[in-house]
Amino acid sequence: MNTVLFAVGAYLIGSISFAVVVSKLFRLDDPRSYGSKNPGATNVLRTGNKKAAILTLLGDGAKGFVAVWLAQHFGPAYGIGETGVALAAIAVFLGHLWPVFFRFVGGKGVATALGILLAVNGWLGLATLATWLIIAYAFRYSSLAALIAAVFAPFFYLLMFEVDAMLLAITAMSVLLIARHRKNIANLLSGKETRIGSKKKS
Ligand code: G3P
Repeated sequence: MNTVLFAVGAYLIGSISFAVVVSKLFRLDDPRSYGSKNPGATNVLRTGNKKAAILTLLGDGAKGFVAVWLAQHFGPAYGIGETGVALAAIAVFLGHLWPVFFRFVGGKGVATALGILLAVNGWLGLATLATWLIIAYAFRYSSLAALIAAVFAPFFYLLMFEVDAMLLAITAMSVLLIARHRKNIANLLSGKETRIGSKKKS
């Protein structure tokens, strides 16, 4: 029962869409109405407002981190083990993708996944972040960087830990993240994907 409560709590935390909240605070257009229409930091950056994009990134990342951290630190007192923490991880990610507060229209999960990975293990998060940064720096495509980092993340986990519930959760997140990037993959293949820093047309 407690496992379910922690998972529901994590899902609710994940359901806070920082792209929408931050855009409202900065009086920017709703990110679901321009660019890729994705409520995420990359799309908020298309407004040209770097502060709003960074706050979105930090907010979406922090919620992933916090949900897993809470399960790790307060869970054991309520009988939450490793499987419960893995469930909290996937639950906060699902909240970001299908947020109950925003008619289930959520983002692609990149920042939230990073926050989750950093909470699971700092080195795991940093290795995945480094992968993102290297690809983003080399090719200037946020989506390509996310896709490659998502492919690598479960392997990084396997290098550090064994096959367990968290590996399953991370693999499931990677699969969902890649599925969410379907349009980006098509755009990358047809050369239509916009590079980091390009602004939205208004
Ligand atoms: O963080 C999401 C990114 O990988 C792609 O975003 O807006 O270009 O679809 P976007």
